[in-house]
Parts: sequence; C-alpha cells; structure tokens
Amino acid sequence: MSDVKIRPIKESDKESWLKLWEGYLVFYESTLDDKVTETTFSRFFDESEPVYAAVAEAADGKLIGFVTWVTHRSTWAITDYIYLHDLFVAPETRLNGVGRKLIEHVYGVGKETDASRVYWHTQVHNHRAQLLYTKVGMRDGFVVYRWPES
Ligand SMILES: CC(C)(COP(=O)(O)OP(=O)(O)OC[C@H]1O[C@@H](n2cnc3c(N)ncnc32)[C@H](O)[C@@H]1OP(=O)(O)O)[C@@H](O)C(=O)NCCC(=O)NCCS
Repeated sequence: MSDVKIRPIKESDKESWLKLWEGYLVFYESTLDDKVTETTFSRFFDESEPVYAAVAEAADGKLIGFVTWVTHRSTWAITDYIYLHDLFVAPETRLNGVGRKLIEHVYGVGKETDASRVYWHTQVHNHRAQLLYTKVGMRDGFVVYRWPES
C-alpha cells in the first residue's frame, strides 16, 4: 500500500479515529470510560502534554490505522525515551505494510527529536504483531509487571 500516507492526527479526525479506537479496544477485549478516551484524544492536541498520535490515511481519505506514543525522561539517558503506546490497523487492510509504516513514523519522530530510544511491549500471545516486531525492532528480554491489577 504505497499510496497510504502517515500523518499527524487532526482534531477533525475524531469520528474516524474513534471507530479505529473502538476496534482496538475490542481487540484487547477491553472497555474504557468515555472520559478516558476523550481525555486521551484531547491530549494529542495539547502542547503541554507528551502524548502524540499519527494516522494512516488511504488514497481515498479513509483512516485505516493509528499509532500513539508518549515521551518521557530516563535515568539512563540525557534525551527522552519514546514509548509506543498503541498500534492498530483496520482488519481489512492488514498485511499491506501499514503497521510497519506507522512504527517507522515513530522512529522518524525519534530521529527528529533526538530521542534515545523507541520501545513498546506486546502480549506474549500476540504472535501476529510479533511477526512484524521482530523485523523492525529487537526483543529486549524484560518482563513487565504492574500494580494494581486493573
Ligand atoms: C499488529 C498490526 C498492527 C500489524 O499491522 P499490519 O499492517 O498488518 O502489519 P504489516 O503489514 O506492516 O506487517 C506485517 C509484517 O509481518 C509479516 N507477517 C505477517 N504475517 C506473517 C506470517 N504469517 N509469517 C511471516 N511473516 C508474517 C509480514 O511479512 C510483514 O513483514 P514485511 O513488512 O517485512 O513484509 C495489526 O495486525 C493489528 O492492528 N493487530 C491488532 C492490534 C494489535 O495487535 N496491535 C499491536 C498491539 S502491541
């Protein structure tokens, strides 16, 4: 899909992005309070928030995927790390290189902003995503813990 453009999200993308976001939550068998979704969307456009998003736009203008990321300090580097938070490609457009393009977009941001690292995690059983990740990144061997449970 060489005609797919990756570009920063715009406020006017809200309706289309919400549809993709819903699909992403369904994939994770999760729900989120609408207030969380609203807050996340508004943070993409708030310059004081280190929360960002880009979308994949097909030649006909339809949004077919998105990626989000946050930047943060690290005790192991002078410049920020980029945590790639969410990645989603509409099911009917998968396996066309769009996921790779979205990740590479974040790498581009990392280069432009002199970030020390782009990193992310995925579920152990998400083999489909890992088929892509092993081609664009390296597995670092860390295991993620969290608290509280939910
Ligand atoms: C993971 C996801 C974003 C990938 O998007 P995509 O657009 O299908 O990915 P791409 O087409 O860019 O990448 C597919 C890569 O995986 C490889 N791949 C896919 N299926 C494969 C298979 N069965 N065997 C070997 N390689 C395979 C392809 O060869 C391709 O590599 P290439 O770019 O070198 O050709 C998409 O499947 C998705 O949205 N999944 C649901 C949500 C999700 O899992 N998000 C990630 C959470 S961590």
